[in-house]
Amino acid sequence: MIDESRAALPNEGVPAEQVLAEIRELRATDRPTHGGRLFAYVYDPAVPGLDALAAAAYAESAHVNGLDPTAFPSLLAMENMLVAAAARLLGGGPDTSAPDVVGSVTSGGTESLILAVKTARDARPDIAAPRIVVPASAHAAFAKAAHYLRVALDTVPVDPTTLRPAAADVAAAIRPETVLVACSAPSYAHGVVDPVEQIAEVAAAAGVRCHVDACFGGWTLPYLRRLGVPVPPFDLAVPGVTSISVDLHKYAYAPKGVSVLLHRDPQLRAPQYFAYADWPGYTMINPVISSTRSGGPIAAAYATLRHLGDDGYLELTRQTWAAVRTLADAVRGTDGLRLAAEPESTVVCLTATEDGPDLFVLVDELAVRGWHTQPQLSYAGLPPSVHLTVTAAVAPRAAEFGDDLADAVTAARAAGPVGLPPELRALAGTLAPEALTGDLVAGLAAGLGLGPGGGLPDRMAPVNTLLDVAPPALRERLLVEFVSLLQRPAW
Ligand SMILES: Cc1ncc(COP(=O)(O)O)c(C=O)c1O
Repeated sequence: MIDESRAALPNEGVPAEQVLAEIRELRATDRPTHGGRLFAYVYDPAVPGLDALAAAAYAESAHVNGLDPTAFPSLLAMENMLVAAAARLLGGGPDTSAPDVVGSVTSGGTESLILAVKTARDARPDIAAPRIVVPASAHAAFAKAAHYLRVALDTVPVDPTTLRPAAADVAAAIRPETVLVACSAPSYAHGVVDPVEQIAEVAAAAGVRCHVDACFGGWTLPYLRRLGVPVPPFDLAVPGVTSISVDLHKYAYAPKGVSVLLHRDPQLRAPQYFAYADWPGYTMINPVISSTRSGGPIAAAYATLRHLGDDGYLELTRQTWAAVRTLADAVRGTDGLRLAAEPESTVVCLTATEDGPDLFVLVDELAVRGWHTQPQLSYAGLPPSVHLTVTAAVAPRAAEFGDDLADAVTAARAAGPVGLPPELRALAGTLAPEALTGDLVAGLAAGLGLGPGGGLPDRMAPVNTLLDVAPPALRERLLVEFVSLLQRPAW
């Protein structure tokens, strides 16, 4: 029996005001997207009126279809202007060493990276079993691209102190079947910029394309540099960089659903297109993965860029950098914690000292105090850490963080680490993912307070502690099972 008060398709339609009120009620259960206390998922400049402008621009073009640029020249024009803006910011355009740069607007960083891999793969039809080389710190979207496109993924370790790969290791990982080398500027997890110049050089020497994943920080690094922060060369100005991606829905502060993928020249981009005329309908020519795509995100991004302008982004980056320094100082000044890396972009990543608190308990204690941070599990010899994506909205709040952090550390120390039953710990450490049965997962989920139908426990430390003990393949399996328990139709 469907609960008519919540059904997406009620017997009779519901008035507009009521529908909006219902959505607001649902939204009240979300983490706060505004207010500078959520350090992941959202990018908030806290500029008055910007949300309304972007929403109006979105509505203006929501029903326009990017499927056919000749039918909707407005979209083509805005897309080309977004590409030009991104290219200018990232070392391309007239009077640069990348005067022929071209690009596409995609739905997000993952799509940009999948397309970078697809383009590199399809440029080498002579290679039967293509491979890509990425640092271990590269975003998981490269693994997704490799998986979707049946390309082998060769990962190069990162130095445990600098958290960067060595170009010599990248060079050693390149094989005759390698179609792409990638690196990050900066990496999501730790916010460090890879040695792009050296990596692009070894890729070029091997005749392989080099993609710079600047999805996260590509819109802030140029402004940080203008503010005097040391930023190593990372963009199209670097010889050997053949493509670069930057997400407008991150630090360009556009609503979600928009990223830009740039190629140094049209020839490099050519294999990105998919064309199909061998059916009775319209000839399909797609530069990106989607065919029909809404003009909403493109128009909203265009409005956001034009409204904020270059000066606006410089000022927002100045505020963000001030917040980064305040937060980093708070970490440095808190007994039991240390920075995983000195901030060189807009990430603050902290970890515990040897006698420090349990980080997963700390994350819960921070949440109790209204700060929503992102726990990162231990990986390949790197300890667990806590990630903070810092945006301009954090600036007015940053000074309040230090006291709450110290308080949270005291509380986490007093609580101590989560005590997993030893048999559960042993099971998580040794269980083969294939041996995970539905019953076992349901039992684990219930034991951890993860209920079917969307229930999540207030405290996530037990879940994170369990996952931290498990090897990556088991983490994946467990989380797929947990998430699929949550994703059930609401009858
Ligand atoms: C460096 C980097 N690359 C790629 C992505 C994937 O972007 P999206 O979540 O928009 O698909 C992210 C997301 O955080 C990122 O930080």
